[in-house]
Amino acid sequence: MQVELFSDEYNVRLLTGADISDIYCLLSKNVLYYEYCPPFVTRQSIQEDMEILPPGKEKKDKYYVGFYQGNKLIAVMDLIDGYPESGIVYIGFFMTDTLVQGRGVGTAIIEYLCGYLSEQGYESVRLAWVKGNPQSEHFWLKNGFVRLRETTSNVADEVILAERIL
Ligand SMILES: CC(C)(COP(=O)(O)OP(=O)(O)OC[C@H]1O[C@@H](n2cnc3c(N)ncnc32)[C@H](O)[C@@H]1OP(=O)(O)O)[C@@H](O)C(=O)NCCC(=O)NCCS
Repeated sequence: MQVELFSDEYNVRLLTGADISDIYCLLSKNVLYYEYCPPFVTRQSIQEDMEILPPGKEKKDKYYVGFYQGNKLIAVMDLIDGYPESGIVYIGFFMTDTLVQGRGVGTAIIEYLCGYLSEQGYESVRLAWVKGNPQSEHFWLKNGFVRLRETTSNVADEVILAERIL
């Protein structure tokens, strides 16, 4: 997987500890998300999210990336290659800057990424949203994700697992 090819419009790169202030700036403006998914973001929680892995996965499978418009971070994504099984990509987190929201930026990023992953031979993309969060739910349904089942996760007790076949 080559992160530079995740987008034709934005510069994409792996985020590191040096980017935490910019990430915090973007995440902390998305107040609604943390109402459904407490606790509220901290620099420490970002550091932990950069390292956390689902069961059976290794550091090499994880892509915690930033999408940049010029030098400005406009979206953050946590993507796992091959979870829960080979051929499936799992998006653990995706958030855009509130300043660009509602203008199709999130949709364009997901659309292009799905095209890239399809070309690379992946079969589907999976993710989960916190049950009842209207912003996440509408966004993923609008972007072609279909509910698989209700389940629990490390972020919330009740989440909706969904999938988009590529
Ligand atoms: C969800 C999110 C990524 C969308 O980014 P975006 O750049 O605004 O995306 P788009 O402009 O392509 O799409 C906006 C869509 O989001 C949904 N949406 C956004 N805000 C909403 C709200 N307050 N209530 C309901 N739906 C909402 C709608 O489906 C909207 O589509 P519409 O404009 O056709 O009505 C962004 O709102 C965000 O980062 N939210 C916080 C984090 C989050 O919920 N991430 C997803 C779960 S991991």
